[in-house]
Amino acid sequence: MAQIGHNSELAAQLLRQGKLVAIPTETVYGLAANGLNEKAILSVFEAKQRPFFDPLILHVPSLEAAKTYATFNDKPLLQLAEHFWPGPLTILLPKNVLVSALITSGLERVALRVPQHPLTLQLLQGLDFPLAAPSANPFGYVSPTRAEHVNKQLGDKIDYILDGGPCQVGLESTIVGIEDNKLCIYRLGGLALEEIVKVAGPYELRINNSSDPKAPGQLKNHYAPKKPLFVGDLIELIKEHPSKKTALITFGETDFAKDSLLVFNLSPTKNLQEAALNLFNFLRQADESEADVVLCSKLPESGLGLAINDRLRRASVQ
Ligand code: TXA
Ligand code: MG
Repeated sequence: MAQIGHNSELAAQLLRQGKLVAIPTETVYGLAANGLNEKAILSVFEAKQRPFFDPLILHVPSLEAAKTYATFNDKPLLQLAEHFWPGPLTILLPKNVLVSALITSGLERVALRVPQHPLTLQLLQGLDFPLAAPSANPFGYVSPTRAEHVNKQLGDKIDYILDGGPCQVGLESTIVGIEDNKLCIYRLGGLALEEIVKVAGPYELRINNSSDPKAPGQLKNHYAPKKPLFVGDLIELIKEHPSKKTALITFGETDFAKDSLLVFNLSPTKNLQEAALNLFNFLRQADESEADVVLCSKLPESGLGLAINDRLRRASVQ
């Protein structure tokens, strides 16, 4: 198991030595390494068992720092960065020579993000390199939203876990970029599309379901728990799985849940932000429980509900 603590100076020292440190962000915990050190970058892929065709996000302390590694030629992307950084938004930008092809899997654009977490911002400000950090989970599994999630799954592979408490957003960042002069959304995430429109106008959804290297994080089986998960109308799902030991993940209503082994309510007041914050933690708890099947309510298709449903669809049996 890894050492867990709040010591960002120790985290900085280890990162300078090329070691792996898990870092808290507002979205999910990241598995960080020196983004300019190829050996350190390779060890991220190794620890996660992640294929090299799946590129990494570079985390920087500010928009100024982002400009060290990429060019902001497109005004909408600059406006989005100015408006939402630090925050749950990742921007794809033309990279320069400082960025290794290992980070981008050979693509021309690099994914950049300024995370919104005081401990991690302080850490980044004290480093003279960016942090390459995918979510700190084994490839394909649910992302971690607490230090103990990281420790359970990757604790023996990393040197230190910087504990910043439970993540405040709970879903990975939304990924945007420009292609053919159009603002494109490549991954739904912690920043709602309604917020993006207000700043940068209309967009096109380019969310893939295949192993298209442009957005490999969109692989069908991403974010999957080990137990079978079914998503839809809970009353129907309960009828379809009558004799099983079921874990239910509900949104608001719980009346129909009396015969289930376990009930997790994403948000008793039907608040989508609260649901996002609880989602991955509940999926993990359901996965670790005695239940043999997990049934989850589909959420309203607006705001963060879109990103939550996207994750549930990828994690579920279809
Ligand atoms: O919220 C987040 O984004 C978290 C925290 C730790 O910052 N990170 C995260 O990283 O979710 P990861 O590696 O689990 O997912 C990032 C996804 C990749 O799977 C890939 O689809 C996309 O970002 N990506 C990264 N670099 C890219 C690039 N150059 N071009 C296209 N897509 C890229
Ligand atoms: Mg991930």
